[in-house]
This record gives sequence, structure tokens and C-alpha cells, in this order.
Amino acid sequence: MKRKIWTIKEILTVSSGYLKAKGIDSPRLTAEILLAHVLGVNRVSLYLDFDKPLIENEVSRYRELIRRRMQREPVQYITGKQEFWSLEFHVDPRVLIPRPETELLVEHTISIAKEHGTHEKSLLRILDLCTGCGAIAIALAKELPKARLWLTDISHGALDVALENATKHNVEQRITFLQGDLWEPLSGQSHEFDVIVSNPPYVTSDEYEALPPEIRNHEPKIALDAGPDGMRFLERIIKGAPSYLCPGGWLLVEMDPRQIDKAVDLIQQTDMYQRWRKEKDYSNSYRVLISQKAL
Ligand SMILES: C[S@@+](CC[C@H](N)C(=O)[O-])C[C@H]1O[C@@H](n2cnc3c(N)ncnc32)[C@H](O)[C@@H]1O
Repeated sequence: MKRKIWTIKEILTVSSGYLKAKGIDSPRLTAEILLAHVLGVNRVSLYLDFDKPLIENEVSRYRELIRRRMQREPVQYITGKQEFWSLEFHVDPRVLIPRPETELLVEHTISIAKEHGTHEKSLLRILDLCTGCGAIAIALAKELPKARLWLTDISHGALDVALENATKHNVEQRITFLQGDLWEPLSGQSHEFDVIVSNPPYVTSDEYEALPPEIRNHEPKIALDAGPDGMRFLERIIKGAPSYLCPGGWLLVEMDPRQIDKAVDLIQQTDMYQRWRKEKDYSNSYRVLISQKAL
């Protein structure tokens, strides 16, 4: 039997119909991203070559990617990339896919560095706890050329991805990679950081079970589940940070808006911080807590 010759236009129409029928979000956009990935072009080029016939190998590779997406694998793991702070990061199932709201941590860290003139110092020391693919730290390294950074994660796989991303963006010479449980890789060393930044796991165990299959079945559980109230890491970070911050040093942590008041209580109980403030995300909810260690 003669094989059907697919054009770009036809295959996009048919595959976005399949994705839509399966209840996949943004079916047309997804179909375009995956086809552009297979063909090694950008999405605009698809429209310029709408009537171009595809060769058999392109069609079979594309079908495989559509099949993976229909099984709810995130597009970013299929293409192996995610943009964050206008930089492209490699992502795979060893790391959480960086979310747009996490750019707030980068934005506030840069403004603190600038406000306080620390960016003028010969060395600004920044610790990114729970770094995952390294997105926060690498974005900061690109923006603050005088910064020296330390990245920690309990996952060897995540640190391998972070190193790959740091090398891709040519900042690996200024970064130290440390593996271990939260503060453990730093204990016994005399570190004093100007800034500690973290987007730790903060989903409650119940919420974790109710997450969409894209997240629950594909992203690392260790990157999300933070116990019954989601505070397991936030509490250890807020209580532990003063031991590793210089006097007047800053802690910036991302959390669920429902956790922010509990986090402020912890800051007050700790009695080591001289001030703190809550910052809102793009949907107008408090997402980031910024605290300054007493001088
Ligand atoms: C929410 S993800 C954030 C990743 C990255 N910072 C981002 O914003 O995209 C949390 C990260 O914490 C790491 N993690 C989980 N438990 C940890 C622990 N006990 N100590 C250090 N890192 C941990 C996970 O491996 C994961 O990479």
C-alpha cells in the first residue's frame, strides 16, 4: 500500500485534534512545539513551510513524541528544555521544571545586591539551596558577574543537570556544587554568605497526591513533597540560615502563599532576623519571603 505523504499543515491539524481529544492543554501549541523540535526549526518556520512534505523518519519520530505527550509527559521533558530568565536550561526527569514565578527570587536577589551595593564588592557570596537544574543560581551568575555561588541539592542527578547547565552558560568556574541534605554539606565549613536563596519542596503530602499526572507521574517527588503541612524544608531553612549568613545577610525563600504567615512566625521565633517582608507573585499572592539577618 502506498504510504501517505504528510505535509506540515496536515500533520499539525490531525495531531492537535488527537491531543485535544485526550484533554491535553494547548493542543495546537503543543503540536507545533513538538514538530518544530523534530525538524530542528523554530515554530515560525513551520508556517513558512506549511505545504512541505515530511519524510517517513520525521513522521515516525513526531508520532513517538505525540504518543509521549498523550501519556502526559511534560513537553519540557520531551524536548529537554525550558526557558527561565530568558536563558535555555536543559531539563529531564532528574529535575523539577523551573516555573515562571521562581524568576521572582532572581529579580529580588538582584535588586538586593544592587540596593546594598554588594554587587560592587569583589566577591558576592550566594548560596542556592535545593538548586535542581540550577536555574536560579545560573541566572544570578549571569546577572552578577562578581558573584561566587554555591549550589546544593540532595539529588546527584539534579547536580549533574545543574553542572551541565552552568557549563552551557559558561559560569561553572564561579560555582561550587555540593551534594547532601540541606545544610549538611556546609556543616563543619566556615561559610558566610551574603545571600541565601531557595525554592525548596513545599507541597503538602495531600496536595501532592492530587497534582495533575504531568507533575505527579513525571516530576521528581523529592522536589515537591514536603510533608503534612509542606513546611518540612521551609522550617529548617528559616531556622538554619542565620548560622550561614553574614551579619546583615539576606534570606529569600519561595513558598505557597498559604505558608507565608507560618513562615513569618518562624522568622519571629528565630529572633535572629532584624527585618522581613513578603513579596507578591504575578497573580497577586504572597510567594516570596525576604528576611535580613541582624547586624
Ligand atoms: C522545588 S525543587 C526546586 C528546584 C529549583 N530550585 C527550581 O526552582 O527550579 C526542590 C529541589 O530540592 C531538592 N531537595 C529535596 N530534598 C532535599 C534535601 N533534603 N536537601 C537538599 N535538597 C533537597 C530536590 O532534589 C529538588 O531539586
